[in-house]
Amino acid sequence: MAGAELVVVANRLPVDRDDDGGWRTSPGGLVTALEPVMRHAKGAWVGWGGQPDLDLEPFEFDDTHLVPVSLSAGEIAQYYEGFSNETIWPLYHDVIAVPRYRREWWNAYVAVNTRFADAAVAVAAPGATVWVQDYQLQLVPQLVRERRPDVTIGYFHHIPFPAYGLFSQLPWRRQVLEGLLGADVIGFQRVADAGNFARAVHRQLRYETRARGIRIPRPDGTTRIAIAKAFPISIDTASYVEMARRPEIQKRAREIRAELGNPEKILLGVDRLDYTKGIRHRMKAFGELLREDRLQVEDATLVQVASPSRERVVAYIQLREEIELTVGRINGTYDTMGHTAIRYLHQAFPREEMVALYLAADIMLVTALRDGMNLVAKEYAAARIDNLGVLVLSEFTGASDELTGAIRINPHDIEGLKDAIMQAVEMPRDEQRRRMRKLRKRVQDHDVEAWSRGYLHALAEARQANAQ
Ligand code: G6P
Repeated sequence: MAGAELVVVANRLPVDRDDDGGWRTSPGGLVTALEPVMRHAKGAWVGWGGQPDLDLEPFEFDDTHLVPVSLSAGEIAQYYEGFSNETIWPLYHDVIAVPRYRREWWNAYVAVNTRFADAAVAVAAPGATVWVQDYQLQLVPQLVRERRPDVTIGYFHHIPFPAYGLFSQLPWRRQVLEGLLGADVIGFQRVADAGNFARAVHRQLRYETRARGIRIPRPDGTTRIAIAKAFPISIDTASYVEMARRPEIQKRAREIRAELGNPEKILLGVDRLDYTKGIRHRMKAFGELLREDRLQVEDATLVQVASPSRERVVAYIQLREEIELTVGRINGTYDTMGHTAIRYLHQAFPREEMVALYLAADIMLVTALRDGMNLVAKEYAAARIDNLGVLVLSEFTGASDELTGAIRINPHDIEGLKDAIMQAVEMPRDEQRRRMRKLRKRVQDHDVEAWSRGYLHALAEARQANAQ
């Protein structure tokens, strides 16, 4: 098929390979977000199949034309683990871990971005829309524009965009900015991210940056406008509500509580095992509350789901060791025969089990040191159809701009975090309801369908403006 009207380009395909070589939809939010749009629009999705050297022909899956991009083991090491996840990821998350700048990783990033761009233009219909996703593919917008001036190009950045003082460390900062500016609309999670991007463009390239757009010179002396703006992503709220209403999931929530020994309060953390998530800060605060006897192990349990992630990258290997040491120390000190302080699960669970956990948890702890959005915070709110439960939310997440019903915290301030946890533990039901209603209203009013509609609308407007 060479006639797709909408081409999504993302590092990963929206499907995972199962053990017998078949494919199943992967559980990510973006996939659910775009499913209806793709179906409607004769859509194609260009992405990597998740394993080395998978040389596959394009195939149809759920009304979407999937175009696999093959990556060798070396490219996975240099483009994905290296440049994407040891250079860009830590740099864009405020250097919580030290970014490494390696020229061979950059070269691999250029080569792989070019491959994605080639695959995208091969499948795009004349005048199509190409929508590029996330930091692994920052060069693709410009590469697509050079090849196909007829298409409209969107880019959405799912992670933070850092302040200029950090971004300017990047040896390839100009190339990255030029790559992104190939898009007609460059979407960010927060207003602050869009501002950081515009400032970087102004400082590096001296282009005129106004609220109405960035003026980019064309080779023929004319100019075009690119829009850099916040479009906070969301979740498929209705599907969480639907799951939370299912009797078997509610039963499972009661079972979880019973299996944990029916503590008075269950605290919950759900994250990819990533150093940006502040898992250690959370455990430190919880451990100190036990030590100071402000909480007792019979009454309060912390369930920490840490799903395996990027397991070959050194910082992730180290983080896992540190967290597992911390869990062992806290549990060794405070557990009794019948109660555990931290129930730690280094596993991924199906969405139904996650909803049961959300329903079982009195307090949701989102303590990220930096996070583009944090969809877990939104999922928790969506699932709490009983309007109970308390969300403790880091102000360093995109979600904190929207979720004003949460108890907002600075995860670096351990005393403040401890007080916030105690405030959540002691919060009267009336106040829980008042806050939860506010949280739920936001995720009901602004779900992922509204997000993709808003983004694609902005893209259509940009297309018209630049055609004039
Ligand atoms: C973040 C990024 C995504 C990425 C996901 C999982 O949410 O914004 O682009 O897909 O993490 O990470 P992985 O490296 O497994 O794709």
